[in-house]
Amino acid sequence: MKIGIIVGTRPEIIKMAPVIRECKKRGIAHFIIHSNQHYSQEMDSIFFKELELPAPDYNLGVGSGLHSNQTGNILIKMEPILLQEKPDIVLVQGDTNTVLAGALAASKLDIKVGHIEAGLRSYDRSMPEETNRILTDHMSEYLFAVGPNQHAILAKEGLESDKIFTVGNTVSDSLFQHLEISANTSTILADLGVSSKAFFLVTAHRASNVDVSANLLELLALFDKLHAKYSQTIVWPIHPRTQAKLKEFDIELPSYLKLIPPIGYLDFIQLQKHAQLILTDSGGIQEEACLLGVPCITLRDNTERPESIEVGANVLVGRNADKALAAADKWLSAEASGESFNWKNPFGDGHVAELILDIITNNTPNTLDQDIV
Ligand code: UD1
Ligand code: UDP
Repeated sequence: MKIGIIVGTRPEIIKMAPVIRECKKRGIAHFIIHSNQHYSQEMDSIFFKELELPAPDYNLGVGSGLHSNQTGNILIKMEPILLQEKPDIVLVQGDTNTVLAGALAASKLDIKVGHIEAGLRSYDRSMPEETNRILTDHMSEYLFAVGPNQHAILAKEGLESDKIFTVGNTVSDSLFQHLEISANTSTILADLGVSSKAFFLVTAHRASNVDVSANLLELLALFDKLHAKYSQTIVWPIHPRTQAKLKEFDIELPSYLKLIPPIGYLDFIQLQKHAQLILTDSGGIQEEACLLGVPCITLRDNTERPESIEVGANVLVGRNADKALAAADKWLSAEASGESFNWKNPFGDGHVAELILDIITNNTPNTLDQDIV
């Protein structure tokens, strides 16, 4: 058994790390292809270092570009490597252009594809990620669904049930494996001069929120209203896409917004854990906030991760300030009256990578009854 592991962006490196480590632990032959869709040190190499991952065996160096350019270049550069390495299976994680191109390159060569985080749907086809998810799922032989919702979605789309394995999300492995070490090593709160539960944390990078100046300004107006009411510092580790757009649109930011470059995973876990509220349009952060017991206000009109809403940890507000204020009011007054947030965990028990490798290596048969989550 030889596994080809494909990564390309920050969240893929973080969520694939447990799988890479488990392959190494079990002595399973594997190789890593990094598309380099993300390449800035703070979006890429910092995670290899912090998560103690080996350097990728192949780096495609594709960088940024139009969807066609990025996807096409990955496809072109991936095929000769797969032809040479001849893996039995290729694993991809998530919904980026790297995932689509990696799955397509393997599928065309009749190499099995395993899609980790299969079955997520926002039902918003204007998101490039939605196209990537759907196409990747339909090219995959192993669909590693997070929970029963995703299993049902995949089955409804006609995918055979013996291909669908409900295992949880490797986000839980990464988080549980690094929580303690981050608590012991990170000095981010002191570095930023903020105290536990005395700041809000923001991230935003969706094209729909940041690529249109009016939408980005609407987001900033939402933060203004929140600050006017609560006077909290808002810490914002800014995604390079958003940083580039702020510059392009010549937008100046108020001083209560503490803008910092993207930070490493260990620091970011601590920032999340100690934030009073998280406002984000990230997929992974919606999951992590729920696991960490921190209320999440999602700056989108839809989500492919409804589970955290179902358990009460998350609310969708889009860019609507009134909705964001209502959600903040609800959570902050609950907190003030002594409530602690301990929501049901819909994302796995921290052993998801082990299950995935058990399934791949044992070819475990699957039915709904045998699903793990
Ligand atoms: C990509 C994924 C998105 C994922 C996100 C995780 C797609 C279509 N989008 O979005 O699903 O949620 O990664 O963060 O695959 N840039 C840098 N340095 C980098 C990377 C990007 O400066 O290392 C800047 C460039 O200006 C680039 C822009 O960010 O043009 C966007 O990068 P890109 O990889 O195209 O998309 P993301 O917004 O990062
Ligand atoms: N993250 C990080 N540093 C940051 C912001 C995010 O380490 O400054 C981590 C976060 O903990 C999560 C992942 O990056 O695991 C989410 O990545 P992102 O929001 O870029 O992508 P998405 O999940 O939306 O695809």
